[in-house]
Amino acid sequence: MSFEPAIPQKQPYVLDAQEGDKKAWCACGLSESQPFCDGSHSRQGTGMSPKVVVCEKSGKIAWCGCKRSANAPFCDGTHKTLD
Ligand code: FES
Ligand code: FES
Repeated sequence: MSFEPAIPQKQPYVLDAQEGDKKAWCACGLSESQPFCDGSHSRQGTGMSPKVVVCEKSGKIAWCGCKRSANAPFCDGTHKTLD
């Protein structure tokens, strides 16, 4: 059975980013450094890994906090459909 990601929060983490920043978004939801990976996925044996992206431009990014976005690592509004 595959690991069901945890839901750190049902809204995005909106943060400033700089063009060229490389970020590892936490897909498992267990990181204590949300929205980014802190290695918990490995320590807790989730079988998951982070999504690594390079920011294409400077500005605000809405990182998915519910871990259910179809456009992860970015928020696509799916959090609004969660109970
Ligand atoms: Fe969640 Fe690494 S801690 S993907
Ligand atoms: Fe996950 Fe918006 S926070 S889709």
